[in-house]
Amino acid sequence: MPLADCQNVFFFKKNSFMQQIIISEASDEERYIAASMIASSEPWITLGTTLDTCLKFCLDREYLVFAARFGSEVCGVMVIHPRGLASSPYLKSIVVGSNFRSMGIGKTLLGYAEEYFRKTSKHFFMCVSSFNPRARALYERLGYAKVGEFEDYILDGESEILLHKRIR
Ligand SMILES: CC(C)(COP(=O)(O)OP(=O)(O)OC[C@H]1O[C@@H](n2cnc3c(N)ncnc32)[C@H](O)[C@@H]1OP(=O)(O)O)[C@@H](O)C(=O)NCCC(=O)NCCS
Repeated sequence: MPLADCQNVFFFKKNSFMQQIIISEASDEERYIAASMIASSEPWITLGTTLDTCLKFCLDREYLVFAARFGSEVCGVMVIHPRGLASSPYLKSIVVGSNFRSMGIGKTLLGYAEEYFRKTSKHFFMCVSSFNPRARALYERLGYAKVGEFEDYILDGESEILLHKRIR
């Protein structure tokens, strides 16, 4: 992708230096990387989501997969079904590599997704697990609000909390 395509170029701070990431749709190989990043991270470990399951949805062309790249390294991914909930986009998964967390990449990825869908949708949805308060805090800071709760949905005693943001 040409570097001049600056809609896809974003900056974050790592070790006090400004660094660049490029976000765009994942290649076929990056869809495999996305599946492995998701399967090997919390909350999916606790939820019991296997690599097989992650591969199924990451390789499914109904899902859009976006990758954030730091040089040649994939440092973050998100998987979105464009009509996943009530015909509106639904974020299935987002993960940033553990060495890149809390540097603004998650916020940048979500901003990218909102911009991507703004022309075609007023709404954006996602779920967050009740035992993942840090991710929920990030989403709430970005304007997402709880609109539902699925109790005992995957794990007994835990909920999947449905969040919504109006993006236009
Ligand atoms: C959630 C996540 C995608 C956010 O990406 P990020 O690049 O770390 O986010 P940003 O730098 O834009 O924002 C930082 C905020 O993300 C959240 N966050 C950071 N590390 C986190 C982690 N390990 N787990 C969950 N949330 C985390 C916190 O709210 C953090 O704010 P704080 O540093 O003030 O506590 C990323 O941390 C991650 O991949 N976490 C593990 C997987 C996960 O929980 N995915 C969400 C499933 S719904």
